[in-house]
Amino acid sequence: MDCSEDRAYRLLNEYSNGFMISQVLFTACELGVFDLLAEAPEPLGSAVVAARLGTSPRGTELLLDACASLELLTVETRGERAVCQNTELSRTFLARASPKSQHNMQLYLSRTTYLCWGHLAAAVREGKNQYTKAFGVPSNELFTAIYRSEAEQLQFMRGLQEAWSVHGGAVMAAFDLSPFPLICDLGGGSGALARECVSLYPECRVIVFDVSEVVRMAKKHFSFPGEEQVSFREGDFFKDPLPEADLYILARVLHDWTDEKCSHLLARIHHTCKPGGGILVVESLLDEDRRGPLTTQLYSLNMLVQTEGRERTPAEYSTLVSSASFWGFQFKKTGKIYDVILVRK
Ligand SMILES: C[S@@+](CC[C@H](N)C(=O)[O-])C[C@H]1O[C@@H](n2cnc3c(N)ncnc32)[C@H](O)[C@@H]1O
Repeated sequence: MDCSEDRAYRLLNEYSNGFMISQVLFTACELGVFDLLAEAPEPLGSAVVAARLGTSPRGTELLLDACASLELLTVETRGERAVCQNTELSRTFLARASPKSQHNMQLYLSRTTYLCWGHLAAAVREGKNQYTKAFGVPSNELFTAIYRSEAEQLQFMRGLQEAWSVHGGAVMAAFDLSPFPLICDLGGGSGALARECVSLYPECRVIVFDVSEVVRMAKKHFSFPGEEQVSFREGDFFKDPLPEADLYILARVLHDWTDEKCSHLLARIHHTCKPGGGILVVESLLDEDRRGPLTTQLYSLNMLVQTEGRERTPAEYSTLVSSASFWGFQFKKTGKIYDVILVRK
């Protein structure tokens, strides 16, 4: 093979084996490998890991070896024994107790998203999500589909919240939000982004608006006693009256919906928004020529298999918001996964 053919073949293998890499990561999270090693006072050998997790010695050894090559673990030899411990990556992002842990998102990707991606070919053929094939749930009943059980809903809410422990600060700091004392986070889920907002702008108050199932779970599992600046309101943002506010946050909301439904929601916000107020859209933005970033293109396919929506370019968002009579479109790339758009009424 010449050099370019060699590279092409390596790339091909990397892509076709990509799902195995995801599964190694998901499985180590599911089994609690990173939590065990985070809690252990010293590095552990694979036999000890297997005994403590109640897993097979052979399977555990193979899993830990793969984790080491993926830089999820480090291995050192002590006498006759190889022992392993977490790397910076797994200590920070995978051990459950870390403040920046992304553990729940890995479990959600493994237990829900991965199953939908098994039907990507059908999604591309049909142009719609694959909940019916993956879980036997009608694809037009997104809520039944996304919130199939309380446990799965909690997993989803925890997974979504985890992203803001990494990106929330940059997203909230992208624009000066101090002129907006009353903010409404529409589809705000657990309230994680709202809390990032009030920690940066201590003078502001945020109302988190979401469907009743989500608000109930948010109050039960995510709210803090004595929390004054963040409150919750339940309702359907397509039908029910929206809380009056100076600024509406739409974080990872528009990407769930068709252009028609986005326009309907934006028109409703325009109707309720105070004059001089605005909307802060937080999404992963596609490049204008749609050639990247790859992560956003993959998220767009994820929207295909799991929702009615897609990721969009800044120009596409600009068209949507200006057709709802908002003006002054500005966007900022944060350099992280999520970018920010501000428009005014
Ligand atoms: C992808 S999640 C994003 C959550 C949060 N904004 C974040 O970025 O972490 C979409 C949110 O929109 C909420 N949502 C969907 N349809 C809704 C509706 N019709 N009315 C109110 N909230 C809705 C969902 O319950 C969910 O919390």
